[in-house]
Amino acid sequence: MTTAEGSMVGTTVLITGGASGIGGACAQVFAEDGATVYLTDVDDEAGTRRADELGTRVSYRHLDVTSELDWAEVTAEISSRGDGLDVLVNSAGAAIKATLAHTTLDQFRRMLDLNLIGTFLGIKAASGVMRSGGSIVNIASLRGVLATAELGAYGASKFGVRALTKVAALELADNGIRVNAVCPGSIDTPITAGADFDSDDVEAYVRSIPMQRRGSPLEVAEVVRFLAGDKSSYVTGADIMVDGGTAAGVRTPKVSKVSVG
Ligand SMILES: NC(=O)c1ccc[n+]([C@@H]2O[C@H](COP(=O)([O-])OP(=O)(O)OC[C@H]3O[C@@H](n4cnc5c(N)ncnc54)[C@H](O)[C@@H]3O)[C@@H](O)[C@H]2O)c1
Repeated sequence: MTTAEGSMVGTTVLITGGASGIGGACAQVFAEDGATVYLTDVDDEAGTRRADELGTRVSYRHLDVTSELDWAEVTAEISSRGDGLDVLVNSAGAAIKATLAHTTLDQFRRMLDLNLIGTFLGIKAASGVMRSGGSIVNIASLRGVLATAELGAYGASKFGVRALTKVAALELADNGIRVNAVCPGSIDTPITAGADFDSDDVEAYVRSIPMQRRGSPLEVAEVVRFLAGDKSSYVTGADIMVDGGTAAGVRTPKVSKVSVG
């Protein structure tokens, strides 16, 4: 919901996983637009620090997305202030990299619990307090569009997030609430840093991306900003790729040298 051109003054935004990466960048763009931002996470120290960096419109709350009680407490607080909720960004998540044969049952359940059930609980809790005109943006993944070896548990959770997004879009349209998914490719955050997450040969992996670079958290947040606001007022149930072209198709070396014009 946008109250004035380029402004979100008077709107309330709840972001999960806001202490870091994509969630932290989303908090930044909404704060810039003047929204009241509830930045939530389980990492209380990093979350408080991130909220403090972003100014007085942003405040931190502890919210473990796998806890129905935490969701109830935070959404009750928002509605008790009489604000209602306008935007929910479900960004909390994590990944594990292992073949199915090497993924333990606990690890598989943990992926579904955090990435998929966390998103389900968020949609359920937020839709109860969200005002008409509201928008829910779920951070899915390129790996929830293209199956990827060694990302079975993560991919299953993110394919599921896309399914939930579409079902919620159908069910909440009558309430005036739009629900969309953003599918980032390789974004420069702690999830992809350190461990050779995307590939054992990081340089070769980056060369395989049509745009030949990783994206930044702010490049994802800009798409979330669009989906949250009135400029996307007829968009619901969509998956928007933010992946430098990776899911567009297969890129051969010759194609990269074609000159245009
Ligand atoms: N970085 C990428 O390349 C990439 C690509 C595709 C999708 N994604 C998705 O984007 C989202 C954000 O990832 P990121 O790259 O910003 O990672 P990140 O590690 O920077 O941020 C994830 C945040 O989630 C929080 N978190 C973990 N468990 C939680 C829980 N139970 N409840 C609440 N918060 C919890 C962490 O503390 C952290 O602050 C995730 O859903 C991820 O799957 C990331």
